[in-house]
Amino acid sequence: MPDTRETLLSPDLLAFLPCATPEAWVAAALANQALLLIDHAQCEKKAASTAMSLMYRYVDRPLLLTKMSQLAREELLHFEQVVRLMESRGVEYRHIAASRYAEGLRRHVRTEDPERLVDILIVGAFIEARSCERFAALIPHLDAELAKFYRTLVKSEGRHYEDYLMLARRFSASSIDTRIAFFAERERELIESPDATFRFHSGLPAAA
Ligand SMILES: [Fe+2]
Ligand SMILES: [Fe+2]
Repeated sequence: MPDTRETLLSPDLLAFLPCATPEAWVAAALANQALLLIDHAQCEKKAASTAMSLMYRYVDRPLLLTKMSQLAREELLHFEQVVRLMESRGVEYRHIAASRYAEGLRRHVRTEDPERLVDILIVGAFIEARSCERFAALIPHLDAELAKFYRTLVKSEGRHYEDYLMLARRFSASSIDTRIAFFAERERELIESPDATFRFHSGLPAAA
């Protein structure tokens, strides 16, 4: 079976995301593979750290603690795998500024709990789902080694998306559909509007 969005991603995840990654982003990613790997490593590290900060803040929710602990370990493993790949390809790890994407979603998180927690979990679901979708968009164009690695990541980030969404529903007293729709619109803007800085989660390449 050929690798396509439909074969790699669940119908549920495809329905959750408001839009597909623009073709121009895929072209920019293929032209900037070293930068993509460096930012990917940064994202894995950040994902682990976000999960751990939830473990510090919400100690009274055992399900959250277990899920976030597992997730943090997996993200750190991904981080090690990306760093190893960079080393074998002679890509030097350097500090780069984060993309506007995660902050562009997090700035809409409500400030009072439990709404704050629910929003952080919804944002987590979007970040994981978009990561999955971007890996899937890249896979058909990559060398065998990177394509194989990204196929394993599609599976594990897909589970993370499901976990974040399940936890968001669990910890909310009412339906979260309106909140999901709100963040979906913000997400679409970040993905489809021009973005001067190319990153793993960046928007439409400004030159396109
Ligand atoms: Fe990851
Ligand atoms: Fe993840």
